[in-house]
Amino acid sequence: MNLQGRRVIITGAGDGIGRALALAFAEAGATVAVCARSRERLDSLSDEIAGDATKKHLFIAADLGKMEGVQAFHETVTKQLGQVDVLINNVGAILKSANFFELTDQDWEDSFQINLMSAVRLTRLCVPSLKQSACARIINISSIAAASPRENFPHYSAMKAGLSNFTVSLAQTLAAEKILVNSISPGPVWSKSWEDAAREQSNAASFAQTKKEIMAQTGKTIPLNRMGVPEDVTGLALFLASDQAAWITATNFNVDGGLARNPF
Ligand SMILES: NC(=O)c1ccc[n+]([C@@H]2O[C@H](COP(=O)([O-])OP(=O)(O)OC[C@H]3O[C@@H](n4cnc5c(N)ncnc54)[C@H](OP(=O)(O)O)[C@@H]3O)[C@@H](O)[C@H]2O)c1
Repeated sequence: MNLQGRRVIITGAGDGIGRALALAFAEAGATVAVCARSRERLDSLSDEIAGDATKKHLFIAADLGKMEGVQAFHETVTKQLGQVDVLINNVGAILKSANFFELTDQDWEDSFQINLMSAVRLTRLCVPSLKQSACARIINISSIAAASPRENFPHYSAMKAGLSNFTVSLAQTLAAEKILVNSISPGPVWSKSWEDAAREQSNAASFAQTKKEIMAQTGKTIPLNRMGVPEDVTGLALFLASDQAAWITATNFNVDGGLARNPF
């Protein structure tokens, strides 16, 4: 996929799917502007992307769970990158695995801010620039939990349902501007959040075994018989950003090894 010259924002890209997206888009010739809170993870991504010195990729420390963080990130991107062609609202997190009775108002509020408002705010700020692009795309990374909610993270499931829903209304609003808006809903993908959960259940000596067990157990529930890896999500995102996807908008795509089994 050749995305030479495209300028692409990817949020939450220090690890997991966002990091894989940053590497894949850079590999396809795009210039990427990414964020995460951890400077260390951004520096390691910067080292990994390296290569072509003509591509001035941006690695910006920002907290997108706060309005000021979104604004500061956008301001830096605008100053240093100018035009934006593709916005990938990837950042999101379960934050707390708990049932309805264990979740507080603050848990719901935190989930709202990071899983929905980060995308709403950054989209609002990026639309003027996207309007100037000949190949404008917004890709929201939702979750199969949007359509198949889980009782051990009802807040996250509800916010992802909001994000998928927002994708479709936004696609209608921006269709006249030729800004195409779609969402990708991954199934279980081994990433930092899964790794952190596995560490909580194990010690240094047993971590590898715990990871193997979680991957095997989760994989058994999936028709393709394995958990996803972050790179499983990149092919579809590259395609949606490309000229080949010029008549696709207002659509959600599951990338889940067949887990959701949604025929429509
Ligand atoms: N992994 C899955 O099984 C799965 C399944 C369905 C959907 N998804 C969705 O896919 C997206 C990526 O998930 P992932 O599992 O790949 O993530 P991950 O590995 O947990 O990585 C999340 C990234 O986002 C950054 N981040 C977290 N909170 C942030 C904040 N407040 N501001 C800025 N950056 C922040 C993290 O870095 P810092 O901590 O340094 O900020 C990290 O770089 C999310 O929207 C998630 O809901 C994931």
